[in-house]
Order: sequence, then structure tokens, then C-alpha cells
Amino acid sequence: MRADRVFTNARLATMAPGMPGLGVVERGMLAETGGRIIYAGPQQGIEAAEIVDCEGRWVTPGLIDCHTHLVYAGDRAGEFEARLEGASYEDIARAGGGIMATVRATRAASKFALLAAARARLEVLKAQGVTTVEIKSGYGLEEAAELKVLRVIAGLRVNNDVDIASTFLGAHALPAEFAGDRAGFLRMICELLPKVAQEGLAEAVDGFCEGIAFSPEEISVFFEAAQGCRLKLKLHADQLSNLHGAALAARFGALSADHLEYTDEDGAAAMAAAGTVAVILPGAFYTLRERQAPPIDTFRRHGVKMAVATDLNPGTSPLFSLLLAMNMAATQFRMTVEECVLGVTRHAAAALGRGDVGTLEAGKKCHLAIWNIERPAELVYQMGFNPLWRRVWSAA
Ligand code: NIG
Ligand code: FE
Repeated sequence: MRADRVFTNARLATMAPGMPGLGVVERGMLAETGGRIIYAGPQQGIEAAEIVDCEGRWVTPGLIDCHTHLVYAGDRAGEFEARLEGASYEDIARAGGGIMATVRATRAASKFALLAAARARLEVLKAQGVTTVEIKSGYGLEEAAELKVLRVIAGLRVNNDVDIASTFLGAHALPAEFAGDRAGFLRMICELLPKVAQEGLAEAVDGFCEGIAFSPEEISVFFEAAQGCRLKLKLHADQLSNLHGAALAARFGALSADHLEYTDEDGAAAMAAAGTVAVILPGAFYTLRERQAPPIDTFRRHGVKMAVATDLNPGTSPLFSLLLAMNMAATQFRMTVEECVLGVTRHAAAALGRGDVGTLEAGKKCHLAIWNIERPAELVYQMGFNPLWRRVWSAA
């Protein structure tokens, strides 16, 4: 075997599905050719043009943040202060703040300003070993502004060493100009779908199924239209109340249902049967000081795959660290180290429907995070420390 590059003296957490736990190979090596992994396993003699000596460090797949809203303008620091004084997220939303405050700022911002701000945020994630990021629109909520945000997401790919999955979050909130005409708004976002699909501006759609946002019936209309355009589905479900959003997402064969604090046993069973991934977002739970944790044990019992993401957004989760998200998932929800690391690698890839990232196996893209740690638990238990040694992203 001959390779472009080998990584020797590595302790691999391959995350391979056929192996127990993290799929550990203690005295391991990894070989790459043309940006694809051709070997990951025990040390052996492989010739290569370039040799990287990992000196016993741990190598994981490059991390995947499978749920962010990182293209936005303005900030919501005032809303943060209002919540400290007792206002709730729902109070603020009903008074025209919250998501709509960010929508007003994002509509007013230029494409260039949005791009510059988003690039800076993306760099912060990348610096902690992230190699794939999902980014949602949803702060435009009118044709021109949604397209502007989706084009900014596309622009983030240019000259950037990161994979980006783009999601059209059309059903995020009802803008003021459509108050009293919910059907009209739904029609508008459904009519945008063919354009979004044809221009490749998004691979999936998303919605917010909640009392302050859209009903299950409204989400169903949007999902049917999206499926007609061959777009994949994701859903913000059961975050603040149980509208059975998780079951709805499963019924449509969605890639993921996200948040899920109020999901019940039937919702979890439906997700398991459909293979819908549960995306756990501990940053929003923390920021909103929620009390009801997502039913992790129920997901475990049903064998639902769980991912962990930042939900990076200016309102409910101004969280720029996937490592800290893992820590929060462990401490707040008692997710294990194994579940957390799977949640930002293999299961996060599943939440995006991407089969070419998330594990260290032959055939996958050579996206790696190499860490100055003695054991994988260090990725989860430390808060605010970044043990990344080197991040490898390959254009494959
Ligand atoms: O994932 N839940 C809805 N959407 C975002 C919040 C967006 C915002 O408040 O700006 C979320 O928490
Ligand atoms: Fe979100």
C-alpha cells in the first residue's frame, strides 16, 4: 500500500459502527490518498509521501456541528438582560422580540456584512476541531432575505477548509406582515422551495413546531411541499411543549428532530423506527434555564441515535463551542462520554444524512481532529479549554 500521507503513532477513536465503544485502536495509524482515508487501524508499514508523527496523541474524526444558525446580524444582549429580570423567551417572542428582532437586523444587513460576521463565527468552531457545520437560514422570512442568507451560506464554502450543510429554515417564525395570514406565509415559503432546490441552495428544510411558531398541520404542509422537491427534512420539535413534533418528524422520515425536551415515549419509539436522529441542544436548555431535560433514557431504551450540537444562534444559544456543548450534555443530561463523542461524529453525520464523514474508516473523507489529551473523557469534562493539536480537512 502507498499513501499520500500517513499519521503514525496515533491513538485512534475510529467511531466505527462495527467496533465497541469509541472504536479505539491504541497503537494505530491512518493513511490517506486524494483526501480519502485508505487505512485506519493498527500500525503497519505503509509508504507515504508525507509522514505526520502524532507522538501518541488521540485522533478522532473531525467534529461535526449538525445544528447552527450562524448567519445573522445584530445581537440579543438586551433580551438576555430582560430574561435575567424574569421575562420568558415566549413573552419576548410575543412582544415582537426574539427571533423577529434578529430577522429585522438580518433583513437590513448587506450580504457582505453577513458573510464577514459568519466567517468569524465559523473560525471559532473550526479552532476546536470542527470540520463539518450545518447552517440554517430562517432569519430572512421573506423571499429576498431568505435567498440572501442562503447565498451567504454558499459563500462561506469559498476558499474555506470546512464542509457546510445548508438548511432552509423557512418555517421559523411568522413575520409581522403576515399576522392574520398564516396560510399566505406558508404559501410563500412553499413557493420558494423549487428555487431553493434547483439552485442547490439547501439540501434540507427545517421548521419550528411550537405554540409560538407553527402547528403540526402547518409543518406537514411545508414538509409535503419540500419532499416534492426532494429536499430532506429536519424539525425543531417539542422544545417548550409537547406538540408531538418528534412523531411528526418520524412520520415524514426526517433526518433529525432537534431539542426534544418534551418528547414522550411514543415520539421516541417513532423516531427509532424511522431512524430519525435526536439532536440534543444543551446550550438552548442552559440559556433558557429550562427545567425539563430531554428524555435521554427513553431514547437509549428505544435505540434512538443521539447527536449533540451547539444550536449557535444569537437568542437561545449564543454558544460557540461544540466541546462545551458536549460538557453541558454530560453534566445537564447525564449523557456518557461515549454518547457525547458519538454525538459530534458518527451520529451528527447521520443527522445530516452524510455517509462520507463521522468515522475513521477506509473510504471516508480524511477529516481529523488530533488532540493533546490522555483519554477521550478530557474532551468532555473540561470547560473552556481547547486541547486541539491539529485539525485536518481534505477537499475530497
Ligand atoms: O433552535 N427554536 C427555534 N429556533 C432557535 C432559536 C432561534 C432564536 O431564538 O433566534 C433554536 O433555539
Ligand atoms: Fe435551532
